[in-house]
Amino acid sequence: MKSMSAQAIQSTHAFADEARDAVYHAIFSRRDVRGQFLPTPVPDAVLSRILTAAHYAPSVGFMQPWNFLVVQSDAVKRRVHAAFATAHAEAGEMFEGEKRSTYRSLKLEGILESPVGICITCDRERTGPVVVGRTHMKTMDLYSSVCAVQNLWLAARAEGLGVGWVSIFHQSELQEALGIPKGITPIAYLCVGYVSHFHAKPELESAGWLPRLPMEDLVYFDQWGQRDDDQALIGHLKRDQAIAQEAGAAHRVAAAQ
Ligand SMILES: Cc1cc2nc3c(=O)[nH]c(=O)nc-3n(C[C@H](O)[C@H](O)[C@H](O)COP(=O)(O)O)c2cc1C
Repeated sequence: MKSMSAQAIQSTHAFADEARDAVYHAIFSRRDVRGQFLPTPVPDAVLSRILTAAHYAPSVGFMQPWNFLVVQSDAVKRRVHAAFATAHAEAGEMFEGEKRSTYRSLKLEGILESPVGICITCDRERTGPVVVGRTHMKTMDLYSSVCAVQNLWLAARAEGLGVGWVSIFHQSELQEALGIPKGITPIAYLCVGYVSHFHAKPELESAGWLPRLPMEDLVYFDQWGQRDDDQALIGHLKRDQAIAQEAGAAHRVAAAQ
């Protein structure tokens, strides 16, 4: 009986199969894009849709702390790239041995190649000092702007646009390059544009930097660290992750044909 009523509720509110599959397709095929940008301009109508998707993200106390700084000027992109280059050279020194040479071989941005940059920010003072939901955990406003990033990223994937998040900056240098005042926090500098292809797997996974973690190691029950491999949910998680990985592999085969 219990599962029947769950099914009835599901059919009332769930998307039709095709629409639901499209949502999961956007999630599983989204990639961080660095090296495959095409110079093709992004029409304003498309840019407007993905920015509007970002603006409809959840935010703590509905404070909507974000702004969207759209970068199209080559001169500004060059300033952002110079800030990246400084931090990237320093970052290389922070890794030891083989990791250092691997780090240096990674392409970690597409600032100059992507036709559009979008910096998503957080104005922590937007609605005054006391915000519903931010009264005790003060970082919730920052997380809200991150939600806007993810909305944009997924909407962009559905539009066939690649997005690459670049975070290797001294914050002050990024702010200076973009004229962002001190009271505003830059959350993400995103490179946006059409792409030659989307990789099937994260590039850091393919490069052997890190593997994707198994879901069953990440899900705890009732108390931190408490695993229960006998729970039916664990079986589902293993299957779903295998399907998600296989979808990536299938995508790779299709791309090679
Ligand atoms: C907060 C954040 C910052 C990131 N910064 C960078 C970055 O500076 N350069 C880069 O190449 N990728 C960056 N990435 C992308 C991650 O490397 C990427 O999401 C991860 O390797 C998984 O790959 P996927 O996004 O293709 O699934 C960032 C991602 C997040 C969420």
